[in-house]
Amino acid sequence: MTVYLDHAATTPLFPEAIAAYAQAMTVVGNPSSIHSAGQEAKRLLEEARERIASTLGCDPIEVVLTGGGTEAVNLAVKGLYWARQSDRPRPRVLVPLGEHHATIDTVEWLERTEGAVVEWLPVDEHGRISLEALDAALAEDPASVALVSLLWANNEVGTIQPVADAAALAARYGVPLHTDAVAAYGHVPLDFGAVRSSSGSVGNAGLVALSVSAHKIGGPVGIGALVLSRSASVTPLIHGGGQQRQVRSGTQDVAAAVAFAVAAELSEAHREPEAERLTALREHLVAGVAERVPSARLNGDPTPGGRIAANAHFSFPGCEGDSLLFLLDVAGVAVSTGSACQAGIPEPSHVLTGMGRSEEDSRGALRVTLGHTTTEADVEAFLAALPAAFEQASRAGFADRTTSFAS
Ligand SMILES: Cc1ncc(COP(=O)(O)O)c(C=O)c1O
Repeated sequence: MTVYLDHAATTPLFPEAIAAYAQAMTVVGNPSSIHSAGQEAKRLLEEARERIASTLGCDPIEVVLTGGGTEAVNLAVKGLYWARQSDRPRPRVLVPLGEHHATIDTVEWLERTEGAVVEWLPVDEHGRISLEALDAALAEDPASVALVSLLWANNEVGTIQPVADAAALAARYGVPLHTDAVAAYGHVPLDFGAVRSSSGSVGNAGLVALSVSAHKIGGPVGIGALVLSRSASVTPLIHGGGQQRQVRSGTQDVAAAVAFAVAAELSEAHREPEAERLTALREHLVAGVAERVPSARLNGDPTPGGRIAANAHFSFPGCEGDSLLFLLDVAGVAVSTGSACQAGIPEPSHVLTGMGRSEEDSRGALRVTLGHTTTEADVEAFLAALPAAFEQASRAGFADRTTSFAS
C-alpha cells in the first residue's frame, strides 16, 4: 500500500464527509425552485453555507461557492481587476513572487489580454513578502492599483504570510486585497471578519476576498469558496441565472456543499491538536532527513509559528527533484516536488528561485506534506526509502532539459 505524503496536493476525504455527500446526493431538488423539494434542497445548501462560514469568520452571505480553489482565485483576481476599471484605468496588479499558478497564470492573462501591468514583489529567503516593498509600490500611485493578491500560506514551502499587515497597508491606500488561503485552510486560523476589522479594512479596501478549496481539508474535489465581503465589487466570470448574489451563476451543488461543510467543521475542530501532532511528526521527519542526507537543505520558514506544521520542503543538492519523486514512488512513497512539470520537462521551482535560490537548489526540491491520515509509520517508511532514492537520483544528476523533439 502506498505511503501517502502529498496531502497538500489533495487529502483523503473524511469518512463523515463521504457519508454526508452520499446521503445529500439522494435529495432531489434545485435550490432555486419554488416548490417544497427545491426549498428542502435550499435549506440543506444554506445550512452548509452557514457551517462553512463559521470556520472562516465570515457571514454566510459572504461565502460564494465555486468549482474549487482555482475558480475562486480567478473570480477574485479577474473580478476585482475588471470592477476596478469602472471609473478610471487602474492597470497595476501587485503580486509577490512565488505565488500559486492559479494566481500567476491569471495575472499574466490579464497582462496579455486586458492591459494589466503586473508588479512582482520580492520575498525574503524564506518566501515571506517584503511589507516595505508592498508599502512602496502602493505609495507610488495608489489610485493606479487595481488590487493586491497574495497567498496566506505558500503551498510549496509552507511559509505563512503576514496577511493582516498586508491588508492594513492595502486598506490605508484604499486598494482591495485578495488572499489565496487554499494552502492555509485547516492549518491556521482563518478569521476573515477579525482580519478585516484589525486591519482597518472598510468597503472595497483592504481584505475583501479570500479563496479556499474543499479537497485540501478532507472534502470533495470540485467545490471551493470565495469569501467575498459584502462591500466588495467584482465583475462575475460566469453569467446566467444570477445565483449567489449574481456573482456566480449556475445551479448549486448541494451535496458537495454539505460534504464541504462537514469537512470544514471537522478540520476546524481538530486544527489545534492536529497541528501539535503533525509538528511532532514533521520534526521527526526533518531530523531523520538531516541524519540520512546531511547535505539536504530545509526550505521555508524554520520557526514553528512561521510555517504550516504539515509541510516539510527540502532541496537535495546534485539531484533532480523529479528523479527523487519517481524513485520514492517506486519504493511505495508518494511525495511531490511541489512545482509543476512543464510538458514532462523538470523545471526548477519558481518559488525557490523567487526566494533567491540557485537553479541547482531549485531543481532538487522535494515537498513532503502530512495530513489527518499520517502516522509515525508513514514517516518511518519515507525515511527508510530516502537514502537509496537519494543515492540513485544523485548518480543520475540533472536531466538534460532539451527533449528529443527539440531542434
Ligand atoms: C495555494 C493554492 N491555490 C489554489 C489551488 C487550486 O485549488 P483547486 O485544486 O481547488 O482548484 C491550490 C491547489 O493546489 C493551491 O495549493
